[in-house]
Amino acid sequence: MTAGRDPAKSFTTFLDDVPSGPPVTAYMNIIRRCNARCQYCTDWTAPRNPHLDPSRDRLRTIFTELKRLGVRDVVLSGGEPFLRRDLDGVLRDAHQLGFGIRIISNGTLIRPGHIELIRELGIDRVGVSIDSLSAERMKAIRGLRVHQVTRAIETLAEARTRHPSLRVSIYVTVNRLNIEDLVPLAEYAKGLRIDVQYQPVHFAETGLEEHILTELWPDERDIERLGEVVEELLLRKRTGDLPINNRPEFLATIPAFFRNRTFHPERCTVAYTDVVIDGELNLKPCWSMPPVKNLAAPDTDLVELWHSGEMREIRRDIREHRCPGCLYVCHLNKPHVPLPELRHQAP
Ligand SMILES: C[S@@+](CC[C@H](N)C(=O)[O-])C[C@H]1O[C@@H](n2cnc3c(N)ncnc32)[C@H](O)[C@@H]1O
Ligand code: SF4
Ligand code: SF4
Repeated sequence: MTAGRDPAKSFTTFLDDVPSGPPVTAYMNIIRRCNARCQYCTDWTAPRNPHLDPSRDRLRTIFTELKRLGVRDVVLSGGEPFLRRDLDGVLRDAHQLGFGIRIISNGTLIRPGHIELIRELGIDRVGVSIDSLSAERMKAIRGLRVHQVTRAIETLAEARTRHPSLRVSIYVTVNRLNIEDLVPLAEYAKGLRIDVQYQPVHFAETGLEEHILTELWPDERDIERLGEVVEELLLRKRTGDLPINNRPEFLATIPAFFRNRTFHPERCTVAYTDVVIDGELNLKPCWSMPPVKNLAAPDTDLVELWHSGEMREIRRDIREHRCPGCLYVCHLNKPHVPLPELRHQAP
């Protein structure tokens, strides 16, 4: 670790500087079904019936409510978003409302037609998840053929020559089995002139069984090695050698997160800045906490819910650290916005 510096402390200090006001980003799982079989995820166990996907109409209504709330960006994920036959329509609905749009995908179903759509709608960022460049480990961890995923990443990287504002990232889920893959994946991203973002695996609210946790959670020796790898990533990020998108404080906290099995930032902003909606249209305070309400019924009003007493109580709980704790890149890797009013804001 970096000598004389407590990464967790500097990280939480950074989290004190957050905006008040409307939420900024909505993380929406627009489908639960998936064609992969990642060990750390349960979405692939969802019924394969497309009729059970959130309907385009309902999603459009939710987009409209997000707009009313003041949300600026939507991050569309799943499940596997590219399994939706009407993805084109869903993206157009979000685009029409003027959201910045990001998509997260396992990459296997991205076709040239999608690239055209991504260009046409000016999608801001596409993230493709990959945990290793080794065929064996990709199969073991994600149940996917690595070349199907690298083909999508390389096609997207290539599309940037015609659509320079498109940002392409690889998302790497850090676990016991891919510690030695973390540096090669960053080098791979560098070679393609895209970026890489690391997310430690987590288990709160996933309902995963104990033996999977044992398989994927680093033990003390793994964590020591992970510490060395993180040091290398930090150094090569600092010198500009590797295109790593995580904040240094976030990276530096990963070994401690695994060691302590959780992380409690001094101040987590999630329930102020992010609207989180899962693939069954449950509104959640964050990915690690139970749902507040299901939004599938047409009479639910997201704006009312966001300002409800229940959400205010949840915000109070989070402020007082009554939450599982996590090291979630989406909530804890926010750009620095120097507006420290949140500390004084009522829940
Ligand atoms: C849930 S997936 C949905 C989008 C798409 N299917 C994919 O895999 O990119 C979004 C991201 O969450 C990551 N993820 C899934 N389960 C996780 C877990 N238990 N802990 C940490 N990250 C996880 C995935 O690896 C992926 O990068
Ligand atoms: S590809 Fe994404 S949604 Fe599918 S099982 Fe893996 S992490 Fe879950
Ligand atoms: S568990 Fe939820 S509320 Fe707690 S730190 Fe993580 S994102 Fe924030």
